[in-house]
Amino acid sequence: MALHWLLALMILGALGVGLYMTGLPFSPARLKLYNWHKWAGVTILALSALRLLWRLTHRPPAAPPMPAWQQRAAHGAHVALYVFFFAVPLAGWAYSSAAGFPVVLFGVLPLPDFVGPDRALSETLKPVHQWLAYGLAAVIALHVAAALKHHFVDRDGLLLRMMPARRRAESPVQPIRS
Ligand code: HEM
Repeated sequence: MALHWLLALMILGALGVGLYMTGLPFSPARLKLYNWHKWAGVTILALSALRLLWRLTHRPPAAPPMPAWQQRAAHGAHVALYVFFFAVPLAGWAYSSAAGFPVVLFGVLPLPDFVGPDRALSETLKPVHQWLAYGLAAVIALHVAAALKHHFVDRDGLLLRMMPARRRAESPVQPIRS
């Protein structure tokens, strides 16, 4: 739950800063935002690895009753989210390397370059990173819409059980292990 909400905040931040910074004129402020964006992105990548490891070693609570197609759609969306959690930052990192800007995490830890400076490759990777980020935003929108539908239409407690303090008190959906 902690990783879910931390990553949600960081990913929305990276999306917002990413969209904002590319429209800025060249300036120290733009450079600073590019660095913050890269550091947030690399942290998201590391936390996503931790999250995937956690997800693979801990069974989540059972889903509330719902039609089979909705279960399949939810599973598909979750798989897509995990794919994007890795693909978006990796594409950004590779783009930065190809463009000749190595990533120095938090300004102190130089990270390895995926690829050497390569202008043609960087021109390919830039829209790849951009469109993967838009794809991630689209799946997040679907995920949020589904969560709100469960909360307001189905009223099955699915969203409440993602709220740490209220999980056990209010959710009619019982976790497998409680
Ligand atoms: C989940 C993590 C990330 C998200 C959601 C994200 C999202 C975005 C978005 C929305 C843009 C603007 C695209 C546009 O409309 O032009 C962008 C641009 C950019 N991102 Fe990321 N990004 C992430 C991780 C990273 C990482 C890890 C790096 C590098 C280490 C990176 C490097 C860049 C760079 C250099 C640009 C500017 C591209 C340009 O100059 O047009 N991003 N990102």
